[in-house]
Formats: sequence, C-alpha cells, structure tokens
Amino acid sequence: MNLFGDSMIKVGLLGCGAIGKTIAESSGREYTIFAVYDKNFEKAKFFGDNYNSKVASSFEEFEEMCSECDLIVEAASQQAVKDCVKLLKYADLLIMSSGALSDYELLKELVDTAKKYYRKIYIPSGAIAGIDALKAVKNCTNEVILTTIKHPSSLGLNLNEKKVIFEGSALEAVKLYPKNVNVSATLSLACLGFENTKVRIIADPKVSENIHEIVAKGDFGELYIRVKNKKHPDNPKTSYLAALSAIRLIKSFSDVLKVGT
Ligand SMILES: NC(=O)c1ccc[n+]([C@@H]2O[C@H](COP(=O)([O-])OP(=O)(O)OC[C@H]3O[C@@H](n4cnc5c(N)ncnc54)[C@H](O)[C@@H]3O)[C@@H](O)[C@H]2O)c1
Repeated sequence: MNLFGDSMIKVGLLGCGAIGKTIAESSGREYTIFAVYDKNFEKAKFFGDNYNSKVASSFEEFEEMCSECDLIVEAASQQAVKDCVKLLKYADLLIMSSGALSDYELLKELVDTAKKYYRKIYIPSGAIAGIDALKAVKNCTNEVILTTIKHPSSLGLNLNEKKVIFEGSALEAVKLYPKNVNVSATLSLACLGFENTKVRIIADPKVSENIHEIVAKGDFGELYIRVKNKKHPDNPKTSYLAALSAIRLIKSFSDVLKVGT
C-alpha cells in the first residue's frame, strides 16, 4: 500500500525524453507509467511498446488519461508546466522544469489550483544537493550563493581562460541564462526566494562536468555543498542526478520510514 491507498502509484508522464526514460526504466515495484504524452509521438510510442503505457496522441487525450492517474510527472519543458495547471484537477504534480516557476503568475496559478483541488505539487532537488538542509535553515539564513561552473561551450561561449560571466540575483540569472534556470529556481524556492538568492556563473575550459557549489550562512552556522554532475547519457544538457532525484521522490511516496527533511 502507498500513501494514495493503492498498491502502486499510477504515473501520467508528460515528456518522454532523457529524464522521462530514466524514470520509466525504474518503474515496476512502486509505480507504473500508466499514460504518456510527448509532442514527438514516436518517443511516446516507445513507452507504449516497452512499459505497457497508454499512449496519448494529443494533449487532450492525455488529459483524459490523467483522470485515472495518481501523479502527473512533467519532464518536458517550461511551456509544458503551463499546460499542467489544468491537470491538477485529476492528480498531484511533480515538476522537473522548475525554472518555469520563476514566473510568479504561473507559480501562483499552480498553487491556487492545487489548493482548490486538494492536490500537492512536488519539485525534486534535481541537479543539486542540500535542499533538505536549506529548507530546515530557511528562517535563520542570511545569505545563499550558488556558483555554477560549466565548460564555455555549454554556455554558448568560446573561451580559453576561466571567466566569471555572471554575478547577480537568481531573478536576473533565470532571465539572462535560461539554461541554468532549473537549479537557480529550485534553490530559490527552497530557501531565500529569487530576489535574495545570489548566483555566479563561471565558464571554465578545464571542466567537463557541470559543477554546482552552494554556500549558505546564517544563525545556524555555515553550509557548503559541491556537486560535480555527470551528464545524462541521452541528453548532455541534463545532469543524470536530476533524473535520479525524481525517481527517489516518486518512490518516497511508498516509504514507511522516511529519512531526511
Ligand atoms: N530540475 C532540474 O534540476 C533539472 C535538471 C535537468 C533538466 N531539467 C528539465 O527537465 C525537463 C526535461 O529534461 P530532459 O533532459 O528529459 O529533456 P529532453 O529534451 O531529453 O526531453 C524532453 C521531452 O519533452 C518533450 N516536450 C517538450 N515540450 C513538450 C510539450 N509542451 N508537450 C509535450 N512534450 C513536450 C520533447 O519532445 C522531449 O521528448 C527540461 O525542461 C529540463 O530543463 C530540470
């Protein structure tokens, strides 16, 4: 039995790319991929063939299938998050494209709709760690700084030397560097918000992985987190950890013993 009262969580998956596929590969005991939709039908069809999922050929058809789901997993794009508002009528929602939530109007609409239908919205830690501690110290933290270090080519640059290319608030960072948007957004939502979270982006030709460093200071003490992420084998723009964090979150619904904040 899981928290939904069923023997297994039925997932409606929106987006059948790198993260969606890794989530589907881990399905079985705690959850099934009940229904899938991708704007690229061939990708969705693969899930029908391999995971016995119902395949929607349009968003409207997916919406109908969602009425039989417990959890909708968005693993598609920021645009898809907007489409998810109406799906909250049927099920809880897990959002991978957390950068979409830097749009305050959309965030409010999602939260208001979730309240109306007694649903929950889940944002996995994604490509970073330390979200558990940052949530715990939220009310006694004065400063949170995220430093993201990437190869210049991952930032669309051609540089021979290490260079700080951005320093400012998370609010500015998500507008100027949309490719870094998910990590900045998840961190901001967990602790000090978009205006008060500081972001530095460094292009370094000597690194191949995406590195995220978080420093937080406050009355609780100090916290330092460093994550050196391997790229997802199916999408080099995505860190493999992001997919793993979503899987753990979905599986956690069936946990009797819950460890971590
Ligand atoms: N939270 C995090 O830390 C984190 C980390 C990595 C990626 N992400 C985000 O998660 C999302 C998925 O990542 P991915 O690596 O699987 O991407 P991907 O490009 O491999 O797959 C995305 C899939 O979604 C489909 N899609 C896009 N928009 C759609 C729409 N509106 N309707 C239906 N299908 C749509 C695409 O056709 C594609 O098959 C992206 O938005 C990415 O930015 C978040």
